[in-house]
Amino acid sequence: MLENKKILLIVAGGIAAVKVPDLIRRLRERGASVTCILTNGGSQFITPLTLASLSGNMAYQDLFSLTEESEMGHIRLCREADIILVAPATADVMAKMTVGIADDLATTVLLASDKPVIIAPSMNVMMWTHPATQTNLQTLKTREVQVIGPGTGDLACGEIGDGRMAEVSDIIATLSRHFQKSRGDGPLKGCRAVVTSGPTHEPIDPVRYITNRSSGKQGHAIATALANFGASVTLVTGPTSEPNPDGTKVVNVQTAAQMMKACGEALPAEILVCAAAVADWSVAGQTGQKIKKGVKAPALKLAENPDILATFSKPGPGRPTLVVGFAAETENLITNAQLKRASKNCDWIVANDVSVGSSVFSGDSNTVHLVTADGVESWPTMSKSAVAERIAERIVKFANKNL
Ligand code: C5P
Repeated sequence: MLENKKILLIVAGGIAAVKVPDLIRRLRERGASVTCILTNGGSQFITPLTLASLSGNMAYQDLFSLTEESEMGHIRLCREADIILVAPATADVMAKMTVGIADDLATTVLLASDKPVIIAPSMNVMMWTHPATQTNLQTLKTREVQVIGPGTGDLACGEIGDGRMAEVSDIIATLSRHFQKSRGDGPLKGCRAVVTSGPTHEPIDPVRYITNRSSGKQGHAIATALANFGASVTLVTGPTSEPNPDGTKVVNVQTAAQMMKACGEALPAEILVCAAAVADWSVAGQTGQKIKKGVKAPALKLAENPDILATFSKPGPGRPTLVVGFAAETENLITNAQLKRASKNCDWIVANDVSVGSSVFSGDSNTVHLVTADGVESWPTMSKSAVAERIAERIVKFANKNL
């Protein structure tokens, strides 16, 4: 939802400015480009250099700076943005926005812009509840300024109450919803999709487990791409450090057995994409106690895990109309993928080479082959999000014909 969106981020003077680096990182992770404007107050908490380094764009501060104006005029700054986000928004900035004061670059840009504006207020509880701020808030709302938060809790000033800037994840979710609404309904509206992602952890005892190198990047990117096309997506994921994709329902699991159960609960759906690297075996005969180090190393007895893809691909009532599996192979990639498609009864297999040196597991790019009943398509090396978008586009084509 935030891919290629241009966000003009105004950072005003509040302690919550310390959350801004995380906000910028997470916006960029989602493909947004961020340009920052810093107020004088904001520069007491964070430097233009930090903002420029994290955003990859110059951070602007001074209305009358010859250098900044020659780099990018302040009017162009707001013309080029898709949205203006003020985070943190202080009582002072809100008051200036309300009456139209333009005495620095941030407030001048806000006055000169016709772009949507979202503010994330952050201030002391007395300042927030003061009638002046509350009246300003109401005026801004009537002008369709969207307001996120503030939340309640400990404030930097030592008091407790309303005034904490909204969490970064809430700000991201509000931005995503904004762009979802403005994009209208996607071509997969009304379609339900279940996506599995990440590795599974199979416990050996309460403190140790067996796993694999899957990062969850590809599966999460597919969930994001399907949601962006308007599908109603449930992502069933093993442990990963990937952020939850916006606009999806996320079910976190650890083991293959839990993943199987969660998929069963998330289905029925028209589309099932099994991108998880499910462990083939779990450890049999666990006692629930930590295995003690002894003279002899313990021998692990393994038991086969349920095959989620094969189970839900079985022909019969309730089978998703389209089931997509993945094949991670180190040799005979295409032949093995074709055999897998037949043996697991799925409709498509996305085959990728995970041999040493391919860096597919934790890397950001992937080289895949799409194996269907019609043959094999080899796609060029692309980022995992581009692969996900291409798979999602193919699913849209399929849905247009078959759903
Ligand atoms: O058999 P293999 O693990 O190579 O198959 C890969 C495909 O099967 C992937 O789509 C994976 O998500 C799925 N799979 C599964 N349940 C398992 C093993 C694999 O859904 N237990």
